[in-house]
Amino acid sequence: MSQYWSPAVRELTPYVPGEQPREQLVKLNTNENPYPPAPGVGEALRGYATDHLRLYPDPTSAALREALAESFKVASSQVFVGNGSDEVLAFAFQAFFRHNAPLDVPTITYSFYPVYANLYSVELRKHPLTEQWEVDIDALAADTNRSGVIFANPNAPTGHAHPLSAIEALLKRVTDRVVLVDEAYVDFGAESAIALIDRYPNLLVTGTFSKSRSLAGLRLGYAVGPQELIDGLLRVKDSFNSYPVDSLASLVGIAALKDVEHFEACREHVITTRERTRQRLEALGFEVLPSKANFVLAQHPDYPGAQLFAGLRERGILVRHFNTADLNNFLRITIGTDDEMDSLIEALETLL
Ligand SMILES: Cc1ncc(COP(=O)(O)O)c(C=O)c1O
Repeated sequence: MSQYWSPAVRELTPYVPGEQPREQLVKLNTNENPYPPAPGVGEALRGYATDHLRLYPDPTSAALREALAESFKVASSQVFVGNGSDEVLAFAFQAFFRHNAPLDVPTITYSFYPVYANLYSVELRKHPLTEQWEVDIDALAADTNRSGVIFANPNAPTGHAHPLSAIEALLKRVTDRVVLVDEAYVDFGAESAIALIDRYPNLLVTGTFSKSRSLAGLRLGYAVGPQELIDGLLRVKDSFNSYPVDSLASLVGIAALKDVEHFEACREHVITTRERTRQRLEALGFEVLPSKANFVLAQHPDYPGAQLFAGLRERGILVRHFNTADLNNFLRITIGTDDEMDSLIEALETLL
């Protein structure tokens, strides 16, 4: 603790991201995509006129928002973009959840939400998952006085996704505050709630280029929702940083969106590898939660999660282990290439 820190900063508990190792490891710990971005991304970077860097980027990111709008079949006024979806989420906490009432959230979900809640002094009302490790939609909707609802669908780190009908059932019950559905992993087999934004004025959907578009290093995320909500996000953005998306990121994002074929091929490959990995883990005795994301959450009845994590790390394989009471026995394993998953299974075979 430094005497120079403000009281608010003393109170923070920052998010700890998964390790980005400097040595060569089979990296299955931060849900990155194992395949390269679309070929057009390289062309966009090579064709970029360096002189453009003299100029500030378009503060409205109009071209990128139009490209996203076209891809989602919505109006560009219904799209917001930011420096990774983490930033978009932070803006959303600031814009929508700072009421004098608790925010409804699952106990197990993306671990950045409690960090933002702490940063913005938002009280959380946590709802346990169901016995099947699913987000309990009924419980989220049960109370009345709230500042909003937030959850990831597919959820992290469980991978379970509710169908659109369940999201709609929630929206029918929660009408007073914003319901934020974080769709960071939606492209790996779940249904997007973007289809509902014209019918529910309080629905905001966030997404990212980091997972299905293979652009985690670029930092590009978005929100899609009714214009009124997008305008709320813009008010926060323009009170914080006018240019969260730089001109290179915009160009690269547009190039990635254009290549539908590459996008489809990569996500199908990840889905196929996920199902194969699930079967192989089950054959080794693991309980693997059904996943619609680019990772699986798995535990073994005979081996503690921490022990398997350490054993894999010694064998050059990095997965994610959460040191919390609920998840302590699990490993969260990102779906890599087929070769990487072969290495994982071989290493587990020697460990078990
Ligand atoms: C559920 C969820 N939401 C949002 C993010 C943030 O993604 P990014 O900031 O890379 O867009 C992540 C990253 O792992 C995530 O797991």
